[in-house]
Amino acid sequence: MKKTIAVYPGSFDPLTIGHEDIVRRIVRLVDHLIVAVAETATQTKSGLFPIDERVELIRSAFADEPRVEATSFSGLLVDFARAREARIIVRGLRAVSDFEYEFQMALMNRSLWPEVEVLFMAPATRHTFLSSSLVREVGRLGGDVTDFVSPLVKARMDRAFERPATD
Ligand code: PNS
Repeated sequence: MKKTIAVYPGSFDPLTIGHEDIVRRIVRLVDHLIVAVAETATQTKSGLFPIDERVELIRSAFADEPRVEATSFSGLLVDFARAREARIIVRGLRAVSDFEYEFQMALMNRSLWPEVEVLFMAPATRHTFLSSSLVREVGRLGGDVTDFVSPLVKARMDRAFERPATD
């Protein structure tokens, strides 16, 4: 039987525990999940980690899960998904405020490649307020991000913001 392959695309700058929660939920439903860091994000953002480091952090976070692959891609998401034979694109939907942007992207992606389906996944309730951009800002301004990212990501953020590690 053909394997069910899904792509979970994003900027993942940085990977938050909200993203990790979504990955653990998707992987229960598919045979193989590609967590794909986009080199071209639709919304411009002030970056924290280089693409390769984001990929490496995702790999480390899911080192225990052989069905999760982390990689990056350039160009259109649908072209990447098609090349990898992944007919499912998964996006986390935290709140109604996400909906318009996500809905637009989903319909655009499906008009570019009609065979793809976009699935929206709800995170755990406690993660609904989390976003990479807020985590970046909190970290940059000296706030404690311990509750929002894994210890490895926190250590890298401390290093990026040139603060001594707390443990
Ligand atoms: O985590 P983000 O930044 O919200 O993810 C957005 C992402 C990476 C999924 C989107 O920007 C994307 O798909 N970029 C790849 C380029 C592309 O296909 N653009 C057209 C989207 S309809």
